[in-house]
Amino acid sequence: MNNIIKKFKDYFSNVRYFGLLTGAGISAESGIPTFRGAGGLWRSYKCQNISSPQAWEKDPGLVWEFYNYRRYCMLDKKPNVGHGVLASVEEKMTMENKTFSLVTQNIDDLHLDAGSKNVTRLHGSIWQIRCCACKKIYNNRDVPITSAYENTQFDKEATSHKFKKEDLPHCDCGGVLRPHVVWFGEALEQHNVTQAVHTAEKCDLFMVVGTSCLVHPAAQFINMAKSNGAKVAIVNLDPTPADGMADFLFHGKSGDILPQLFDC
Ligand code: OAD
Repeated sequence: MNNIIKKFKDYFSNVRYFGLLTGAGISAESGIPTFRGAGGLWRSYKCQNISSPQAWEKDPGLVWEFYNYRRYCMLDKKPNVGHGVLASVEEKMTMENKTFSLVTQNIDDLHLDAGSKNVTRLHGSIWQIRCCACKKIYNNRDVPITSAYENTQFDKEATSHKFKKEDLPHCDCGGVLRPHVVWFGEALEQHNVTQAVHTAEKCDLFMVVGTSCLVHPAAQFINMAKSNGAKVAIVNLDPTPADGMADFLFHGKSGDILPQLFDC
């Protein structure tokens, strides 16, 4: 391990454009469950039933019940050591006129809370909501999202229409507000894809932290970076299908490994 850390540090000292892709694993040590591992969200809930345009069409009140519950769970969560190290690396690189570009699949905003600035939120933010009619985006940390959701816990067996239209949050224009996150079956926002592709194409090191690398197009960015000549580093608790592409492979918790890789 020490040998590979030294090799990584030697390479990193000459990196001018550092690209990163993070996933749920980096926030696990903040107490936010991942999706697919032990205790993962999608092991308990069928994502298609609560996190898709079809689910919204069928019962927006149920979808909001799920997101209201997730917001409740995330409200008191703080960035952990891993988020902090990456924010410090960005600060240092910026002072040295180098580029740091972080692409995250996480909607928890913990990278921003830690102080990271150049962050692309591929899947949106749990703390933003968007009008289905006029498309206006609001920053919003209300929990419950409306008084109808006071003291509700998401009931994973629920199938009935428990909430009425007036229970949902509404825009100034009268339209219904939805979570500003990307659901299953929806396209990513083009400007986010453009930034992620730019990062993958321009970086000389692409680091992947805490993602199972199973969801596309995120996983394809690794391939893109590699074929554009970047070295790839993977930091993940468990093996991933992308491990074969890694020039530097670290299996373990990001909160343990990242502080060893960067002197800040
Ligand atoms: P996953 O739950 O698929 O994968 C999380 C990865 O983090 C797993 O491979 C774990 O081994 C690893 N992990 C867990 N704890 C860790 C720790 N402390 N340090 C490092 N690694 C750790 O989550 P994502 O890959 O982020 O999409 O999932 C990608 C997307 O699928 C999510 O953004 C979400 C989901 O469906 C949408 O909601 C659109």
